Amino acid sequence: AEVHFHEFIIQETPVKRLCRVHNSITVNGQFPGPTLEVRNGDSLVITAINKARYNISLHWHGIRQMRNPWADGPEYITQCPIKPGGSYTYRFNIEEQEGTLWWHAHSRWLRATVYGALIIRPPLSSPHYPFPVLPKREFTLLLGEWWDRNPMDVLNLAQFTGAAPNVSDAFTINGQPGDFYRCSSRETLRFLVGSGETVLLRVINSALNQELFFGVANHKLTVVAADASYTKPFTTNVIMLGPGQTTDVLLTADQPPAHYYMAAHAYNSANAPFDNTTTTAILQYKDAPCVTSKSQAGAIPAQLPGFNDTATAAAFTAQMKSPSKVEVPLEIQEDLFFTVGLGLFNCPTPNTQRCQGPNGTRFTASINNVSFVFPKRNSIMQAYYQGTPAGVFTTDFPPVPPTTFDYTGNVSRGLWQPTRGTKAYKLKYKSKVQVILQDTSIVTTENHPMHLHGYEFYVVGTGIGNFNANKDTSSFNLIDPPRRNTIGTPPGGWIAIRFVADNPGVWLMHCHLDSHIFWGLAMVFLVENGEGHLQSVQSPPLDLPRC
Ligand code: C2O
Repeated sequence: AEVHFHEFIIQETPVKRLCRVHNSITVNGQFPGPTLEVRNGDSLVITAINKARYNISLHWHGIRQMRNPWADGPEYITQCPIKPGGSYTYRFNIEEQEGTLWWHAHSRWLRATVYGALIIRPPLSSPHYPFPVLPKREFTLLLGEWWDRNPMDVLNLAQFTGAAPNVSDAFTINGQPGDFYRCSSRETLRFLVGSGETVLLRVINSALNQELFFGVANHKLTVVAADASYTKPFTTNVIMLGPGQTTDVLLTADQPPAHYYMAAHAYNSANAPFDNTTTTAILQYKDAPCVTSKSQAGAIPAQLPGFNDTATAAAFTAQMKSPSKVEVPLEIQEDLFFTVGLGLFNCPTPNTQRCQGPNGTRFTASINNVSFVFPKRNSIMQAYYQGTPAGVFTTDFPPVPPTTFDYTGNVSRGLWQPTRGTKAYKLKYKSKVQVILQDTSIVTTENHPMHLHGYEFYVVGTGIGNFNANKDTSSFNLIDPPRRNTIGTPPGGWIAIRFVADNPGVWLMHCHLDSHIFWGLAMVFLVENGEGHLQSVQSPPLDLPRC
């Protein structure tokens, strides 16, 4: 096993997209940021040096960080942010994970430009992928989102007005919008393949606020991994990813030599405005004839599903399985039911500057009607470790919603208004946990990509409508469910996840649509220590940032 040292200098860098230059926050002047390439069993030591004008922290999305929440990164949850001029060294190990993950800023909306891929290859001791065909080469595709303004200003404006934030102006592949946007044709990315070759595409949804469909013209994709866990291979024309999710697919160049579009556009299940543009790159056969068209690439167009094609999204998700039988927790000790959805805060004087949400309200979001408030004076992890939770957080997060209601039908107006709080739910070490995540129809039904830090979980069931324990539990897949770190709660439906609480510490669970995080669609699990130091949280590093 190897130790990889990196220095991440966080700084403002001019980035030109859509004909205009924006001073963007980047790592080492790169947008997207550097790709981390490691093998299962390796360690990473990354020194983050903040030369920007914002507080920042970095998160290694999907890394389990066993007993080591100090390296997880979400600001005010496991650390205070790194202040301008400050630095912090993240040290962590890769244990039993292979595939594609990524890293990103976990402060406000800085991940709009501060993100990169984290590739974990099999260890040298057994360097083989368990794939039906071994790929000749690999390409990483980070799907992102671009605003033709400073994304922090977009966030601040939304926070001030209480309205929904402006949608993005472009989607990107490795930072490039591609052929269909102004001033972007020349930079459109090309991925070269030889006829007959099989390649591995590592696709990452690093967009801020949008689930995406992705496909390649005339080519089938064979899914082999997701969120750094292998899957039972299956073939599809299109994949759907929520922000935070990754999917590894094999593609065989079995078509006539030509240029083929690779494309991504929104999967928008909500009744709300969205960015309806399409980002592209080109899969170019090495022996393809030259393209003569001057303006665009002259590539063969890709067919993507309609923006609101919920059926295709659900069918795709339903095909994900683990490669063989896995150990799903069976006797559940913590049976939790969480509603996830939006809400509206009534304003004392509606329609004022600060109340520009629907009918003069302010948008909010919640889990079990608690709208999460990030602490300011300390991180939850540090307050817990020091035994000083007072004024930082409480441990009364409700295991079920305050009252039962018809989640997908009429919800009384009183329940549109959550309470605010910084609440954690305590779990005993090694307890077997089930969480039903139920979308509500408050304001709109919507796909919420839910991400749990510090864990991978099994997705044992899903359905449309209200979850019904008596009827739905019997259809759970307890044999070979997929292992994920982020999973979409289907619009107007539910999803069931299970895990064993074997990683002590403080772990954030939230919707990975960043517009929903700042509205409060988050909560925290506080997993208690087990016996002895091997089952307990490690001591904090000396350079842990202070508030
Ligand atoms: Cu991808 Cu809370 O993070």
